[in-house]
Amino acid sequence: MGHTRYHAVTIGWTQEEGRQVGAFITFEGPEGAGKSTVARRIATRLSGIGHRVILTREPGGTPIGDQIRHILLAHHNVDMTPEAEILLFSASRAQLVRQVIRPALAEGTIVLCDRYADSTLAYQGYGRGLDVHLLRRITAFATDDLRPDLTVLLDVPPEVGLARRRQASQAGKEWNRLDSEELDFYRRVRAGYLALAQEEPARWRVVDAAGPLDSVVDEVWQLVRASLQAQGLKLAGVTGR
Ligand code: TYD
Repeated sequence: MGHTRYHAVTIGWTQEEGRQVGAFITFEGPEGAGKSTVARRIATRLSGIGHRVILTREPGGTPIGDQIRHILLAHHNVDMTPEAEILLFSASRAQLVRQVIRPALAEGTIVLCDRYADSTLAYQGYGRGLDVHLLRRITAFATDDLRPDLTVLLDVPPEVGLARRRQASQAGKEWNRLDSEELDFYRRVRAGYLALAQEEPARWRVVDAAGPLDSVVDEVWQLVRASLQAQGLKLAGVTGR
């Protein structure tokens, strides 16, 4: 008694025939922002209140995408050109959208994705200096123009993110090719993310991820719930048991 349980009502939130029926939520941010952990916890909470949820990631998320991921992150591929890199990220994304994300959305599943197209704009565009307009066109082709309903940016200063990342790698998490960039690169990536968020405030929510993980998760949870409700997904509060 006295606490609130939520019962998810998943019918009646598709407005028009032929439109996607699920919700597509992406998590963005630099290395060490805690994206993967936060996304996992949100997935657990959503399924805990009765939603169908899948959690996937980029690059990867499909058998073909995982092979591409391996090429992208391998240390020995130091001579990869920025153009090859963007096309590989895009190839992995094209596969993921068609094989996993669209079919899941079509059956009403909430899809959480750890990185998506905005990573390309932030890393390859703002970070490496490739033409952002061109990247948007490549990305529109790769994704069949599928855009997230909500994008959560876990924002931390690069110094904090990289320190966390180093700690994790000492504890056994692999340190990959893309972890070896200069601090300036990560500063540009962060500025890029913040610019993207400012350009499209209806889709983005920026969360300060420098604090304790539990409070970051709680803040993201409120944002996710608000977004689902705004899309018409009813979370009916039921008090007591
Ligand atoms: P990963 O180990 O998954 O890092 P993280 O835990 O930070 O997500 O490696 C993914 C790396 O790929 C990360 O450095 C960001 C980079 N990346 C791009 O540069 N462009 C992209 O489009 C994507 C999806 C990732």
